[in-house]
Amino acid sequence: MKVIETIAEMKKVRRELQGDFGFVPTMGYLHDGHLDLARRAKAENPIVVASIFVNPTQFGPKEDLAGYPRDIPHDLKMLESVKTDFVFIPSAAEMYPPSYNTWVIVEKVTERLEGATRPGHFKGVATVVAKLFNIVQPTRSYFGQKDAQQVVVIKKMVADLNMNLEVVVCPTVREEDGLAMSSRNTYLKPDERKAAAVLYQSLKLAERLYTEGERNAETIRRKMRELIQKQPLANIDYISIADNETLEELNIVKPPALVSLVVKIGKPRLLDNIVLT
Ligand code: PAJ
Repeated sequence: MKVIETIAEMKKVRRELQGDFGFVPTMGYLHDGHLDLARRAKAENPIVVASIFVNPTQFGPKEDLAGYPRDIPHDLKMLESVKTDFVFIPSAAEMYPPSYNTWVIVEKVTERLEGATRPGHFKGVATVVAKLFNIVQPTRSYFGQKDAQQVVVIKKMVADLNMNLEVVVCPTVREEDGLAMSSRNTYLKPDERKAAAVLYQSLKLAERLYTEGERNAETIRRKMRELIQKQPLANIDYISIADNETLEELNIVKPPALVSLVVKIGKPRLLDNIVLT
């Protein structure tokens, strides 16, 4: 496995290699969820590049960019264990020089859910992913369903800008009690960690209600809310049942529908979702 730290070297490596190129963009501090993307990429492409870049432009002014957890030596060991070929770790100074002026704005689908709570977040995500796609030129790029709106935004950008690659979406990897793996979970105190299982329980409840024939979205939202409110450490930010492509809220559940929620448990905002099909 080779570590690449400059854009020029990454482009040179790409130019010299033929064939399919799998790409896994990350912000590091890797866990088994990230690793699953790399594993799948390796199974589907002879060569796999992962990137580690804590992208400053997707953090809001009140969000803790400096405090984002980092552990490059550990990340490299994990990526090596699944036979990643290259790890691209560019510097913020090179990705965003002082003269930087170009942004990718995906309209509409970025206005809801996380986009409404975190203005500018998806502008930063779309811009950095577009830049990374241009540098790495992957055949396929791997994203986690865990960040469902991010998947919708990236797919829309790739389609609208006619980018020449396939977006592959991988299922959310979970802990034994169903909690979606996330670097934010490390901030949970032991009692909060236990309480966090309520997110997945509420999603399973939504799925059960849907399977039993419930189609009234508000009834499902209300029952999810009631379940979560029984957990004293949980503070609901939002519960959404939306069209999985436009992200518009639904009154009547029509598949594929994205059931997503954000719940604060202690300090961290925990995100999770399932798709009803
Ligand atoms: P990051 O949060 O590091 O996540 C990198 C990738 O791992 C994303 O596609 C995310 O959806 C996926 N992922 C995270 N937790 C997962 C889980 N439990 N199961 C499956 N996949 C999971 O998302 C970002 O970084 C950034 O926004 C990025 C796309 C790199 C742009 O900066």
